[in-house]
Amino acid sequence: MSTHRIPLAGVIGAPISHSRSPRLFAHWLSEMGIEGHYAPLHVEPADFEQVIRTLPRMGFRGANVTLPHKEAALAIADRVSDRARRIGAANTLTFGEDGIHADNTDGHGFVANLRQGAPDWQPEAGPAVVLGAGGAARAVLDSLIEAGVPTIRLANRTRARAETLAATFGPKIEVIDWDRANEAFDGAATAVNTTSLGMKGADPFDLDLSALPASALVTDIVYVPLDTPMLIAARARGCRTVDGLGMLLHQAVPGFERWFGATPQVTEATRAAVLA
Ligand code: ATR
Repeated sequence: MSTHRIPLAGVIGAPISHSRSPRLFAHWLSEMGIEGHYAPLHVEPADFEQVIRTLPRMGFRGANVTLPHKEAALAIADRVSDRARRIGAANTLTFGEDGIHADNTDGHGFVANLRQGAPDWQPEAGPAVVLGAGGAARAVLDSLIEAGVPTIRLANRTRARAETLAATFGPKIEVIDWDRANEAFDGAATAVNTTSLGMKGADPFDLDLSALPASALVTDIVYVPLDTPMLIAARARGCRTVDGLGMLLHQAVPGFERWFGATPQVTEATRAAVLA
């Protein structure tokens, strides 16, 4: 009798219906002709641990984890990658013989998107400006430091949040007052919006970019809309921009490789499949 089981994975969150990951994985599975399934799983915090402990017995190879479970996912793991530990949260769980392995691929996705969108980007060429100090900012800061930026100027409306974050990442991070963020753009090689400003339905983006040099590479982790007010304003200054959708696509690659055993490509077709 065959013990062949179709590989399963999924994305766990609450809410989960808006997640684009099921569409992304379905596209890659069909593109590569791989027999497998990837499901959206709505799980409340009270049920998270029990669900995670049950999934491997149901044939799941692993799962992506999104809000509000990213810290709980780290806590439940038997092994934790260095970057997940530094970020303090996990988005990718892999179920192995030796237990649950937790990783955080958000920062990888962030930098891979920039490298694909701007192959000649030189992170070491000058300071990076990061706007925002929420959960997404942690992964962005970690990956920018790994990529070799010399310094990071971190501005957040609530300064205390930026200071807490800076304290965990060390001396490369300089905290800037939100009302002086415009000065932080002076001489920057890279500028990143990790706040919800400019997102559909959120507050409008109203920062002054007049100090931003035309040589800077600018990106926004907001991808609804794809072309955000920050990106439009940066292009008006002559800057190159990379939209945030690729971060979502690239952060999914390591999980796909581990659970389905093949390396998916991020292409225009991938973007179209996710946006459809
Ligand atoms: P995430 O974890 O996805 O990054 P978050 O923790 O809610 O989300 O963080 C949202 C970010 O957008 C924060 O940096 C927030 O600033 P505060 O820390 O001061 O709340 C920022 N943000 C949201 N609305 C803003 C506004 N109107 N002006 C400036 N920053 C704003």
